[in-house]
Amino acid sequence: MRLPFRAKEKLIVGIDIGSHSVKVCQLERIEQGYSVLSLGSALLPEGAVDDGTLHDPDQVGEIISLLLKHLKIKDRKIGFSVSGYSVVVKKINLPAMDEQLLKEHILSEAEQYIPFDLNEVYLDFQDLQTNRDDMAKTSIILAAAKKEVIDPYLEMFKAINLLPVVVDVDGFALENAYEYNYLKNENIALIDIGAAKINVNIISREASIMARDIVVGSRELTDQLQYEFDLDPEEAEALKLGASAANDRQEMIEEIFHTRCVQWMEEIKKTINLYHATNRREPLTKLIISGGGSNIRGLTQFLEQKIGLPVERFNPFTKMIANPKTIDPEYLKQIGPEMAIAAGLAIRPSAI
Ligand SMILES: Nc1ncnc2c1ncn2[C@@H]1O[C@H](COP(=O)(O)OP(=O)(O)OP(=O)(O)O)[C@@H](O)[C@H]1O
Ligand SMILES: [Mg+2]
Repeated sequence: MRLPFRAKEKLIVGIDIGSHSVKVCQLERIEQGYSVLSLGSALLPEGAVDDGTLHDPDQVGEIISLLLKHLKIKDRKIGFSVSGYSVVVKKINLPAMDEQLLKEHILSEAEQYIPFDLNEVYLDFQDLQTNRDDMAKTSIILAAAKKEVIDPYLEMFKAINLLPVVVDVDGFALENAYEYNYLKNENIALIDIGAAKINVNIISREASIMARDIVVGSRELTDQLQYEFDLDPEEAEALKLGASAANDRQEMIEEIFHTRCVQWMEEIKKTINLYHATNRREPLTKLIISGGGSNIRGLTQFLEQKIGLPVERFNPFTKMIANPKTIDPEYLKQIGPEMAIAAGLAIRPSAI
């Protein structure tokens, strides 16, 4: 028997603060899975967020407030994620033990694994419970983030009257969105191509095996176009997105794109090769690309050719529904790859 007016499970609002833009996604739990209630993004001024560090909390806070207002989101519980130099994620193997013991063990031993002073970080861990087949060891994911980087975000959210209940790592949020939407038994690489970084996360046997942040990204294209054609940043961005005509610059633009994409591909390939060298029996079957940089025309085919694996664009809403009266299905499909992290955050229930 079902109660007809059972309360719907409240989910948090996912907020992905990138160096180029902030993305917001709100979902609702429904019987068949999730429904997309609301989503949108807003550009951030250059330098406001850099390498995961919040440099301009006032401006970023104001932009987030306006975006939420525009999207008519009134809920206050949010989740955000971080990445960059201040975040360390390590996978370690330990003898299987109960949670309390594990906690004590990790707190006393974490110094070995984390290259920061433990007093200066927030530390969290997850037992992947890989101690199947009677093996006595289990894999633990340890995540540490510097307080000096997290605290400014917490203060900014407080100042705009929001309550962060989840602080996540970009790569975990992406993985979360992937796990919900895709078949779980494949070995794949999630590749998020942002403005300032490319995050490669290799998922094998339902767990992240290898993750790497490469400090290159789509902003390099804007910077180079700006330099080559003596443009201001907005003009260069418009040229890059094809919003302004290339005219006689077309050939040169293509060359710039090609050179950068070759560099990115080489870096991505290094991680994939490293994975294959150590996991011969679990070859990758595909790459799933997300982030604004994955919009670059021809990139999917280019990576497919050069890396020799099928490449797919990430759609974090594959298994979700949305009301076409409030969210244009075309927009949802088109914005999907950029929304992957925000959607992964938005799946989290509000625990408190
Ligand atoms: N069609 C396109 N062609 C080329 N680049 C694009 C296109 N659409 C978006 N981009 C680029 O994608 C980048 C923004 O992507 P995204 O929103 O994933 O970055 P971000 O999350 O803000 O940055 P990061 O995660 O690196 O801090 C910008 O540099 C933007 O110019
Ligand atoms: Mg990003």
